[in-house]
Amino acid sequence: MGRVALVTGGSRGIGAAISQALKAAGYTVAANYAGNDEAAAAFTAETGIKTYKWNVADYEASKAGIAQVEADLGPVDVVVANAGITRDAPFHKMTPDQWKQVIDTNLTGVFNTVHPLWPGMRERKFGRVVVISSINGQKGQFGQVNYAATKAGDLGIIKSLAQEGARFGITANAVCPGYIATEMVMAVPEKVRESIIAGIPAGRLGEPAEIARCVAFLVSDDAGFVNGSTISANGAQFFV
Ligand code: CAA
Repeated sequence: MGRVALVTGGSRGIGAAISQALKAAGYTVAANYAGNDEAAAAFTAETGIKTYKWNVADYEASKAGIAQVEADLGPVDVVVANAGITRDAPFHKMTPDQWKQVIDTNLTGVFNTVHPLWPGMRERKFGRVVVISSINGQKGQFGQVNYAATKAGDLGIIKSLAQEGARFGITANAVCPGYIATEMVMAVPEKVRESIIAGIPAGRLGEPAEIARCVAFLVSDDAGFVNGSTISANGAQFFV
């Protein structure tokens, strides 16, 4: 059995592609999901990857869910904090609830996912943390003050974790996907989506598997000196 990898939001979209890529690379994968039981059951049936339901926005639920994963599969050496939501609205229309939901899931959710695993990684002197940020955390986005704040926050998290984890053999890195062909992007109004695609020099949306391959590299034993970095995969839409 290979190392155990936990992928939050791992049964749909980019997360599902990451779960599958890590399984193909020899990891024993646990895919967390929040609510869509049907999609999770279909994902397990199709891939053989175990799914675990909890809300990453809830610290106690995350701790209990992770304890269950470790009881079933063994210590988690690799964690991919991927779970995320959008509640897009121009700032003047954004409600405190839209702000809070996105902060709680996308930003506090990263804390809730990594924090319970951190002591074990320090003890075992090995760990791989990857956070799925976004091009919109790098450049901002009209209608996404909440989401962009969380995705920029992810980059602060990994740069700080990298400094704390390095002497324990733990790396923390981010992937910033551009616009990828997932349900989240398909939910953007068609006209807006068309104008976004027109602004991508590659002339197309990215594929979830293209993000998964970045993650597979970052979590590999070979990537031990890559720490605190960000891989941008956005079809040349934006350069940092
Ligand atoms: N730049 C400048 N102006 C814009 C704009 C933009 N990108 N988008 C909209 N506007 C303008 C509109 O033209 C409109 O102007 P007028 O009133 O003068 O006509 C004004 O802003 C208000 O627009 P709407 O009435 O359409 O506002 P709305 O309340 O219906 O919703 C929105 C606006 C929700 C932001 C919608 O435009 C939208 O969904 N945009 C897409 C946001 C986006 O890119 N989200 C990414 C989702 S995918 C993802 O998040 C994954 C990832 O990591 C990349």
